[in-house]
Amino acid sequence: MRRDEIVEGDALHPGDPVVIDRYSTAARFNHWMTAASLVLLALSGLALFHPALYFLTGLFGGGSNTRAIHPWIGLFLFLGYMGLFFRFWKVNLWTPTDGTWLKKLHVFLIGHEEDMPEVGRYNFAQKAVFWWMGILIMISIASGLVIWEQYFAAYTTVDQKRWAVLIHSVAAIVMICIVIVHVYGALWARGTMTAMIKGRVTGGWAWRHHRKWLRELAADPKANRGTATPAE
Ligand code: HEM
Repeated sequence: MRRDEIVEGDALHPGDPVVIDRYSTAARFNHWMTAASLVLLALSGLALFHPALYFLTGLFGGGSNTRAIHPWIGLFLFLGYMGLFFRFWKVNLWTPTDGTWLKKLHVFLIGHEEDMPEVGRYNFAQKAVFWWMGILIMISIASGLVIWEQYFAAYTTVDQKRWAVLIHSVAAIVMICIVIVHVYGALWARGTMTAMIKGRVTGGWAWRHHRKWLRELAADPKANRGTATPAE
């Protein structure tokens, strides 16, 4: 099966015979590695954030282990996101349709997606998650290095560390909120998890949520190659 063609007869759901490849195995591995890093990073970060959450250090073998592991998980998240970035940056570029879509956001939020402008591979909200996660990960890495006592204690002043802790915490909290929205969106639109688990979606899913992308694929199956790397 060519990964970028619309395939007949390989049903994900009975009655919906058209199946479209959306993510390669490598892209899904990259995504879930990034997602796992973020969850572990949030748990270990929250454990160090407030005494009431200190019990979470139990998951990482105690306080000092949590403190030692947390920055390394951060580097893992950074690498994972860089992989996603190079795979997906092109398809997340802004198009004029995104502006029209944003203006009608309230229509989307009350569940009338059928009245929204036709969407390409990603909608405005998905693109916003993509770019904001990138910005916040950069901010977290930069501020995290300033407060990484084990290696960089000597290079920064106490004042710089205080600012860095504040910036690091705010960025982390915003990031956690964005990921909650991302996961909610993935669960809310039925069939979206299948995209990231099996790599495929139904024609019906594409018609409902990414009709412009479906039309592009129907007109030219190679349109799925609109990314830096094929079919991702
Ligand atoms: C923690 C649980 C997570 C779940 C359940 C989840 C679920 C999903 C699903 C189902 C998709 C496919 C959406 C579609 O094809 O329309 C997706 C796409 C994506 N996810 Fe996640 N995700 C999670 C965490 C993350 C994290 C932590 C990041 C980044 C730091 C991330 C970045 C992305 C990116 C870049 C895409 C491709 C969409 C785009 O490029 O705009 N995800 N996710």
